Amino acid sequence: MFSWLEKNPFFLAVAIFLVIAFAGVIEILPDFAKQSRPLVGTKPYTVLELAGRHVYIKDSCNSCHSQLIRPFKSETDRYGKYSLSGEYAYDRPFLWGSKRTGPDLLRVGNYRTTDWHEHHMWEPSSVVPGTIMPSYKHMFTNEAKIETAYAEALTVKNVFKTPYDQEGMPKLGTWEQANKAALEEAKLIVADMKDEKVKQAVANGKIPEIVAIIAYMNSLK
Ligand code: HEC
Repeated sequence: MFSWLEKNPFFLAVAIFLVIAFAGVIEILPDFAKQSRPLVGTKPYTVLELAGRHVYIKDSCNSCHSQLIRPFKSETDRYGKYSLSGEYAYDRPFLWGSKRTGPDLLRVGNYRTTDWHEHHMWEPSSVVPGTIMPSYKHMFTNEAKIETAYAEALTVKNVFKTPYDQEGMPKLGTWEQANKAALEEAKLIVADMKDEKVKQAVANGKIPEIVAIIAYMNSLK
């Protein structure tokens, strides 16, 4: 029936284009619907969580961990609800990942706690014998870059209209306010930690990377 098309390179090219474009439209269009982004209840990251996200990217956690739960029973049984596109509305860039050497982390905040992360990041094999995840001891002394995180939050607020400072959303305010809020958030986290040096640093107004990465891990739900 379509042999005439195969003999006509121009119309064949047009037909191939239409078929591919149609598939593309079906995948892409729903994301433009207002209801699909952002998903109700999704909030932008606080400054401390963003600083932790920067540590996650810097230390390439995403080379071993995905943040995308596929709609298969084996995955939803283990990790929880499968991912919806609207959940990533404030992820810039998104960290879906393409390789799972370790487990998916999209909802790790639902089943791991601050003190578990503290021990696991210091020496993974102390909590999960035989694990191949490297230890991240430097995070206990390196300082998190709160100012960079604030700059990012302010940029996405102004450029992409990310709803900071709106009702029910994280507050951003001025740099002084944001820095203070990050420190308050850090104090809540170190209250559940054991490392004396980290506690001392936060009491002195400095936030080690480990506190920021734990804030980020706890926000993944
Ligand atoms: C070389 C690969 C590799 C890298 C890089 C890596 N991990 Fe892992 N991770 C693993 C493996 C394997 C496991 C499973 C065993 C375990 O719990 O240690 C794991 C487990 C975890 C878990 C526990 C998840 C669960 O459901 O129990 C967390 C949280 C985690 N990693 C966070 C991180 C963070 C944060 C980074 C970056 C600082 C990181 N990982 C980097 C391999 C890696």
